[in-house]
Amino acid sequence: MDAVSPPSKAPFSLTQRLDEALKQPKLVRVLKLMLFVACLWPMVEPPLHLYLDPLALGANPAEHIIRDWGDWALQLLLLTLLVTPLRLWLGVGGLLRFRRMLGLFAFAALCLHVLAYLGFDRFFIWDEIWADLLKRPFITLGMIGFVLLLALALTSSRAMVLRLGGALWTRIHKLIYPAAILAVIHYWLMVKRDVTEPLLYACLLFMLLAARLPQVRPWLKKRRS
Ligand code: HEM
Repeated sequence: MDAVSPPSKAPFSLTQRLDEALKQPKLVRVLKLMLFVACLWPMVEPPLHLYLDPLALGANPAEHIIRDWGDWALQLLLLTLLVTPLRLWLGVGGLLRFRRMLGLFAFAALCLHVLAYLGFDRFFIWDEIWADLLKRPFITLGMIGFVLLLALALTSSRAMVLRLGGALWTRIHKLIYPAAILAVIHYWLMVKRDVTEPLLYACLLFMLLAARLPQVRPWLKKRRS
């Protein structure tokens, strides 16, 4: 007698399960809330630290806070750029749902970084700020990066996608690439001796940008299969 074998099930990998899970609105909402808290905490922590223990941030708390917020802005920018390669590599389209939040938090951290510089470092003395912009290349490049990211933040809503049309919107949002390059150069120029950290960021950024090349994208997808 012929034994009828059960129909073989297609293997259901972890990434496929993740992709399915990210189609559930409830789970996405919970994950977004967790991401929100995780992104917010490094922005709230330095001033809270200063408030609870004024000596905790060392001799120059203003510099400490400006740097902490600058670091967080750059890290979030790179995380935002990681979403697309990760989506291609894992085949989890749902990851895109978190990209906008990461990008907006990067911009929020950047606003705090710039505000802290204007207030704590330059006490809103506009002549000094203007002189800095003209004479210190790392400030000039940082400001150009800030303006590019401002354009992205202002056009990030769904309404703006509809208003501008997909093609123009995509072109505007490609400004994240020069903005991230300027941010790394800004850090590099600021550092006087040990360039280890900016070099590390530069390597990460290089890989994230290379992952977008038409020659590399198919390779990422192939690794998935
Ligand atoms: C894309 C935009 C920017 C990013 C991602 C960024 C990020 C950073 C990073 C990572 C640092 C070094 C932090 C550390 O030493 O650990 C830094 C330093 C600094 N940034 Fe920015 N920045 C940006 C734009 C700006 C702008 C527009 C300004 C001012 C107008 C500015 C002012 C400063 C200052 C003054 C420091 C040095 C802090 C100090 O040593 O006292 N940055 N930034």
